[in-house]
Amino acid sequence: MNDLCTRVCALAEAATPQSVADRRHLHAHPELSFEEHETVAYVAGRLDEMGVPHRRVAGTGLIAEVRGGAGPTVALRADMDALPIQEANEVPYRSTREGVMHACGHDVHTASLLGAARVLKQLEGKLNGTIRMLFQPGEEKLPGGATLMIRDGALQDPAPGALFGQHVHPPLPAGTVGFRPGIYMASTDELFLTIYGRGGHGAMPHQAVDPIVITAQVITALQQLVSRESDPTLPVVLTFGKIGSEGGATNVIPNAVRLEGTLRTLDEAWRKELHQRLRRTAEGIAAALGGRAELEIGHGYPFLKNDEPLTHWAQAAARKLLGEDKVVDLPIRMTGEDFAFYTHHVPACFYRLGVGSPSPVHTDTFDVDERCLTTGSALLAWLALERLGA
Ligand code: NI
Repeated sequence: MNDLCTRVCALAEAATPQSVADRRHLHAHPELSFEEHETVAYVAGRLDEMGVPHRRVAGTGLIAEVRGGAGPTVALRADMDALPIQEANEVPYRSTREGVMHACGHDVHTASLLGAARVLKQLEGKLNGTIRMLFQPGEEKLPGGATLMIRDGALQDPAPGALFGQHVHPPLPAGTVGFRPGIYMASTDELFLTIYGRGGHGAMPHQAVDPIVITAQVITALQQLVSRESDPTLPVVLTFGKIGSEGGATNVIPNAVRLEGTLRTLDEAWRKELHQRLRRTAEGIAAALGGRAELEIGHGYPFLKNDEPLTHWAQAAARKLLGEDKVVDLPIRMTGEDFAFYTHHVPACFYRLGVGSPSPVHTDTFDVDERCLTTGSALLAWLALERLGA
């Protein structure tokens, strides 16, 4: 361990009680996507205490900078929004808001970035360059707060040479982090499909056009786009999670069937192509059987691509800070994340922060081992410092 490494660890350790207090405050006062008014005010207050300049962007977002010397710019990002879930944990810092909960760990991300700011501010004299901190709203909701941050200049004047972001990972113990160079997470599109037929008496199907039987064939054909037309080395997921008819009964053929689903890919060109093929297949089959299909596609986040050289570099840097056995390799995930937008603009690396939770994210019993805050703060600060060659 070199001197700076030891110093960062010591400063992050010293900042931990405040990081825990920050995280607990944020956890007790969660706000939904694009409504992070109190959260961003809290972040601004802590930055003011540290003497770190900042400006408001993207509605309820904020950009802060720690500057030292004329060197390059490195960016660090945290998302701040909570989810519409009623917390079931009985802890002193449990959510004080009915039906709203930090169930995806964005309180940890925000508190960790504040912790990193505390560390970096104390090492300001060693910096040759700028560390830009992106406190982002609305990760959980379309169009994704990242798009608004980018619109409001998060990646300009100058463009950061590297961007790092982290996300809590329940299966990994606190103190551990995980990386995946290259393609890491999926694009996420929402599908709203309606199959129209013509209702009638269940005993006289020949006088009706049965949309349920058409739907059965459409679903099967659409799944063949995944199993027979997609390159098996680039995973694709198509899931219809909701299906229901308009009217209908044991003896009544309904007029229409509605389906809702998600499409996930790891390639932008194939994603666009699949949009066309989904539409063509659904419309063609429905028409051939005397019905009609209408497909609406809600465009979600693109796939997330970790810059390969940057991510290999970050993995090595993390090993230096945390130890060989504390850095693991992760597989591709078919979940989505709006950090993906940044990765299509600048070299970026999104890694996982171990939080040792028995409950997965997006559940009402999710909570973290708060020792993750020391690691989360130290690693963000360390990556930025190492990148600037401090
Ligand atoms: Ni999340």
